[in-house]
Amino acid sequence: MGIRITPSILNANLADLNGEIARIPSCDAVHLDVMDNRFVPNLTFGLPVVESVRAGTDKMLDIHLMIAEVDRWAPGYAEAGAESVTFHIEASDAPVKLARELRALGARASMGLRPATPIEPYEDLLGELDMVLLMTVEPGFGGQAFLDMVLPKIRRTRALLDARGGDLWLQVDGGVSLETIGRCAEAGADTFVAGSAVFRADDPDAMVRTLAEAAAGAAGTRAG
Ligand code: DX5
Ligand code: ZN
Repeated sequence: MGIRITPSILNANLADLNGEIARIPSCDAVHLDVMDNRFVPNLTFGLPVVESVRAGTDKMLDIHLMIAEVDRWAPGYAEAGAESVTFHIEASDAPVKLARELRALGARASMGLRPATPIEPYEDLLGELDMVLLMTVEPGFGGQAFLDMVLPKIRRTRALLDARGGDLWLQVDGGVSLETIGRCAEAGADTFVAGSAVFRADDPDAMVRTLAEAAAGAAGTRAG
Protein backbone atom coordinates (compact mmCIF):
# COMPACT_ATOMS: atom_id res chain seq x y z
CA MET A 1 0.00 0.00 0.00
CA GLY A 2 1.42 3.38 -0.98
CA ILE A 3 1.73 6.14 1.60
CA ARG A 4 1.10 9.73 0.56
CA ILE A 5 1.65 12.94 2.52
CA THR A 6 -0.51 15.80 1.26
CA PRO A 7 0.24 18.89 3.39
CA SER A 8 -2.43 21.53 3.89
CA ILE A 9 -1.24 25.10 3.38
CA LEU A 10 -4.09 26.49 5.51
CA ASN A 11 -1.73 27.37 8.34
CA ALA A 12 1.03 28.61 6.05
CA ASN A 13 1.42 32.06 4.48
CA LEU A 14 -1.71 32.37 2.35
CA ALA A 15 -0.28 35.43 0.60
CA ASP A 16 2.54 33.33 -0.85
CA LEU A 17 1.09 29.92 -1.62
CA ASN A 18 3.56 28.97 -4.33
CA GLY A 19 6.41 30.05 -2.07
CA GLU A 20 5.06 27.79 0.66
CA ILE A 21 4.68 24.89 -1.77
CA ALA A 22 8.34 25.32 -2.73
CA ARG A 23 9.24 24.63 0.92
CA ILE A 24 7.82 21.08 0.78
CA PRO A 25 9.31 19.40 -2.30
CA SER A 26 9.00 15.94 -0.71
CA CYS A 27 5.20 16.06 -0.52
CA ASP A 28 3.10 13.87 -2.81
CA ALA A 29 0.41 16.50 -3.37
CA VAL A 30 -0.58 19.89 -2.01
CA HIS A 31 -3.91 19.99 -0.16
CA LEU A 32 -5.80 23.23 -0.74
CA ASP A 33 -8.71 23.99 1.63
CA VAL A 34 -11.49 25.97 -0.04
CA MET A 35 -14.01 27.34 2.49
CA ASP A 36 -17.03 29.54 1.83
CA ASN A 37 -18.29 30.54 5.31
CA ARG A 38 -21.44 28.54 4.59
CA PHE A 39 -20.53 24.87 4.76
CA VAL A 40 -17.98 25.76 7.44
CA PRO A 41 -17.66 28.90 9.61
CA ASN A 42 -14.49 30.10 7.89
CA LEU A 43 -13.51 31.69 4.59
CA THR A 44 -10.32 31.01 2.66
CA PHE A 45 -10.01 31.27 -1.13
CA GLY A 46 -11.68 30.04 -4.30
CA LEU A 47 -11.09 29.21 -7.93
CA PRO A 48 -9.06 32.27 -9.02
CA VAL A 49 -6.49 31.59 -6.31
CA VAL A 50 -6.33 27.90 -7.18
CA GLU A 51 -5.80 28.85 -10.83
CA SER A 52 -2.85 31.03 -9.81
CA VAL A 53 -1.38 28.23 -7.72
CA ARG A 54 -1.81 25.85 -10.66
CA ALA A 55 0.11 28.21 -12.92
CA GLY A 56 3.01 28.24 -10.46
CA THR A 57 3.50 24.55 -9.66
CA ASP A 58 3.56 21.11 -11.27
CA LYS A 59 2.77 19.42 -7.95
CA MET A 60 -0.40 17.39 -7.77
CA LEU A 61 -3.18 19.63 -6.44
CA ASP A 62 -5.59 18.01 -3.97
CA ILE A 63 -8.54 20.37 -3.64
CA HIS A 64 -10.71 20.02 -0.52
CA LEU A 65 -13.99 21.83 -1.09
CA MET A 66 -15.71 22.78 2.15
CA ILE A 67 -18.44 24.70 0.38
CA ALA A 68 -22.20 24.70 -0.10
CA GLU A 69 -23.69 24.08 -3.56
CA VAL A 70 -20.65 21.98 -4.33
CA ASP A 71 -22.27 20.35 -7.40
CA ARG A 72 -22.24 23.76 -9.03
CA TRP A 73 -18.67 24.76 -8.18
CA ALA A 74 -16.57 21.58 -8.06
CA PRO A 75 -16.19 20.94 -11.82
CA GLY A 76 -14.48 24.32 -12.25
CA TYR A 77 -11.56 23.10 -10.14
CA ALA A 78 -11.13 20.05 -12.37
CA GLU A 79 -11.30 22.32 -15.42
CA ALA A 80 -8.57 24.44 -13.83
CA GLY A 81 -6.28 21.41 -13.84
CA ALA A 82 -6.54 20.10 -10.28
CA GLU A 83 -5.68 16.40 -10.23
CA SER A 84 -8.00 15.60 -7.32
CA VAL A 85 -11.22 17.26 -6.18
CA THR A 86 -12.97 16.39 -2.91
CA PHE A 87 -16.62 17.30 -2.41
CA HIS A 88 -18.37 16.80 0.92
CA ILE A 89 -21.20 14.31 0.70
CA GLU A 90 -23.18 16.48 3.14
CA ALA A 91 -23.10 19.32 0.58
CA SER A 92 -23.83 17.38 -2.61
CA ASP A 93 -27.33 16.87 -4.04
CA ALA A 94 -26.23 14.57 -6.87
CA PRO A 95 -22.93 12.90 -5.89
CA VAL A 96 -23.02 10.25 -8.63
CA LYS A 97 -23.43 12.88 -11.32
CA LEU A 98 -20.77 15.04 -9.72
CA ALA A 99 -18.21 12.24 -9.37
CA ARG A 100 -18.73 11.26 -13.01
CA GLU A 101 -18.38 14.86 -14.10
CA LEU A 102 -15.09 15.24 -12.22
CA ARG A 103 -13.70 12.06 -13.73
CA ALA A 104 -14.83 13.06 -17.21
CA LEU A 105 -12.86 16.27 -16.74
CA GLY A 106 -9.76 14.23 -15.93
CA ALA A 107 -9.68 14.68 -12.14
CA ARG A 108 -9.75 12.10 -9.40
CA ALA A 109 -13.16 12.21 -7.72
CA SER A 110 -13.12 12.21 -3.93
CA MET A 111 -15.88 12.17 -1.31
CA GLY A 112 -15.36 13.87 2.06
CA LEU A 113 -17.17 12.95 5.28
CA ARG A 114 -17.48 15.00 8.47
CA PRO A 115 -16.54 13.12 11.64
CA ALA A 116 -20.14 12.17 12.47
CA THR A 117 -21.15 11.11 8.94
CA PRO A 118 -21.12 7.31 8.55
CA ILE A 119 -19.53 5.61 5.53
CA GLU A 120 -22.02 2.74 5.23
CA PRO A 121 -24.84 4.63 3.40
CA TYR A 122 -22.34 5.46 0.63
CA GLU A 123 -20.90 2.01 0.04
CA ASP A 124 -22.50 1.77 -3.41
CA LEU A 125 -20.92 5.10 -4.37
CA LEU A 126 -17.37 3.82 -3.88
CA GLY A 127 -17.13 2.54 -7.46
CA GLU A 128 -17.57 6.13 -8.68
CA LEU A 129 -14.70 7.42 -6.55
CA ASP A 130 -10.91 7.57 -6.45
CA MET A 131 -10.56 8.67 -2.83
CA VAL A 132 -12.50 8.93 0.41
CA LEU A 133 -11.53 11.74 2.79
CA LEU A 134 -12.41 11.15 6.43
CA MET A 135 -12.30 14.32 8.53
CA THR A 136 -10.60 13.70 11.85
CA VAL A 137 -11.62 17.14 13.16
CA GLU A 138 -14.75 19.17 12.48
CA PRO A 139 -13.89 20.95 9.22
CA GLY A 140 -13.18 24.66 9.25
CA PHE A 141 -9.88 25.31 10.95
CA GLY A 142 -6.33 24.03 11.13
CA GLY A 143 -4.63 23.28 14.41
CA GLN A 144 -7.46 21.36 16.07
CA ALA A 145 -7.06 18.23 18.18
CA PHE A 146 -7.35 14.86 16.41
CA LEU A 147 -10.65 13.03 17.05
CA ASP A 148 -9.94 9.44 18.06
CA MET A 149 -13.65 8.67 17.67
CA VAL A 150 -13.09 8.53 13.89
CA LEU A 151 -10.63 5.60 14.14
CA PRO A 152 -13.34 2.89 14.00
CA LYS A 153 -14.75 4.52 10.84
CA ILE A 154 -11.26 4.48 9.27
CA ARG A 155 -11.11 0.75 9.99
CA ARG A 156 -14.60 0.11 8.60
CA THR A 157 -13.81 2.14 5.48
CA ARG A 158 -10.56 0.25 4.96
CA ALA A 159 -12.46 -3.02 5.21
CA LEU A 160 -14.97 -1.84 2.58
CA LEU A 161 -12.17 -0.73 0.25
CA ASP A 162 -10.21 -3.95 0.68
CA ALA A 163 -13.33 -5.99 0.00
CA ARG A 164 -13.89 -4.09 -3.26
CA GLY A 165 -10.30 -4.24 -4.49
CA GLY A 166 -9.11 -1.50 -6.82
CA ASP A 167 -7.03 1.49 -5.83
CA LEU A 168 -9.18 3.90 -3.90
CA TRP A 169 -7.13 6.10 -1.59
CA LEU A 170 -8.20 6.65 2.01
CA GLN A 171 -7.27 10.11 3.24
CA VAL A 172 -7.46 11.49 6.78
CA ASP A 173 -7.56 15.21 7.46
CA GLY A 174 -7.33 17.08 10.74
CA GLY A 175 -4.95 16.90 13.68
CA VAL A 176 -2.58 14.55 11.85
CA SER A 177 0.87 14.79 13.45
CA LEU A 178 3.76 12.57 14.49
CA GLU A 179 1.71 11.74 17.56
CA THR A 180 -1.43 10.63 15.66
CA ILE A 181 -0.33 9.48 12.18
CA GLY A 182 0.58 5.99 13.37
CA ARG A 183 -2.93 5.38 14.69
CA CYS A 184 -4.41 6.50 11.37
CA ALA A 185 -2.09 4.31 9.30
CA GLU A 186 -2.64 1.34 11.57
CA ALA A 187 -6.39 1.80 11.11
CA GLY A 188 -5.93 1.75 7.32
CA ALA A 189 -5.46 5.32 6.06
CA ASP A 190 -2.89 5.70 3.28
CA THR A 191 -3.08 9.41 2.44
CA PHE A 192 -2.41 11.99 5.13
CA VAL A 193 -3.22 15.68 5.27
CA ALA A 194 -1.05 17.52 7.80
CA GLY A 195 -1.24 21.28 8.13
CA SER A 196 0.11 22.70 11.34
CA ALA A 197 2.34 19.66 11.95
CA VAL A 198 4.22 20.47 8.74
CA PHE A 199 4.19 24.24 8.67
CA ARG A 200 4.92 24.76 12.35
CA ALA A 201 7.95 22.49 12.09
CA ASP A 202 11.41 24.11 11.90
CA ASP A 203 12.01 22.20 8.66
CA PRO A 204 8.66 21.53 6.93
CA ASP A 205 10.13 19.27 4.25
CA ALA A 206 11.97 17.13 6.81
CA MET A 207 8.66 16.80 8.68
CA VAL A 208 6.94 15.57 5.50
CA ARG A 209 9.54 12.83 5.20
CA THR A 210 9.37 11.96 8.91
CA LEU A 211 5.58 11.69 8.75
CA ALA A 212 5.85 9.40 5.72
CA GLU A 213 8.30 7.13 7.56
CA ALA A 214 6.08 6.99 10.64
CA ALA A 215 3.02 6.15 8.54
CA ALA A 216 4.88 3.49 6.55
CA GLY A 217 6.10 1.90 9.77
CA ALA A 218 2.61 1.78 11.25
CA ALA A 219 1.06 0.56 7.99
CA GLY A 220 3.61 -2.25 7.93
CA THR A 221 2.52 -3.21 11.42
CA ARG A 222 -1.08 -3.35 10.17
CA ALA A 223 -0.20 -5.51 7.18
CA GLY A 224 1.76 -7.90 9.41
C1 DX5 B 1 -9.62 21.69 8.23
C2 DX5 B 1 -8.90 21.44 6.94
C3 DX5 B 1 -7.61 20.77 7.13
C4 DX5 B 1 -6.64 21.55 7.99
C5 DX5 B 1 -5.68 20.59 8.60
O1 DX5 B 1 -10.96 21.90 8.03
O2 DX5 B 1 -9.67 20.63 6.08
O3 DX5 B 1 -7.02 20.42 5.89
O4 DX5 B 1 -5.93 22.51 7.30
O5 DX5 B 1 -4.88 21.27 9.49
P1 DX5 B 1 -4.22 20.54 10.74
O6 DX5 B 1 -3.32 19.48 10.21
O7 DX5 B 1 -3.50 21.62 11.44
O8 DX5 B 1 -5.34 19.95 11.57
ZN1 ZN C 1 -8.61 19.82 4.32
